[in-house]
Amino acid sequence: MVKVTICMGSSCFSRGNNRNLDAVRAWLTVHGHTADVELKGCRCGGKCGEGPNIWIDGVCHSEVTPQSVPELLAAAFGEEA
Ligand code: FES
Repeated sequence: MVKVTICMGSSCFSRGNNRNLDAVRAWLTVHGHTADVELKGCRCGGKCGEGPNIWIDGVCHSEVTPQSVPELLAAAFGEEA
C-alpha cells in the first residue's frame, strides 16, 4: 500500500494540486493501482513556499506538476513511468 497525501491547503491547491489530483487519479486508474493506494488530502503542510506539495510514503515532493506526477508515482510503485 502506497500512501499519497496531497496538500489541499489553499496555496498548494490553487498553485497546481487541483490539477495534480486529477493527474494522480488518472495515473492510478491507467496503471491499475486504485486499490493499492491510500489517497488522502491534507491541510496546509507548512511548506507553502515550495508547493504544490505531495507526500508519498511520508516523503515530501515539492513543486509537483501534472507532468512530474507519473514519474513520482512510478517510482513509488516500482514501475516504469
Ligand atoms: S498550502 Fe500546502 S504546504 Fe501550505
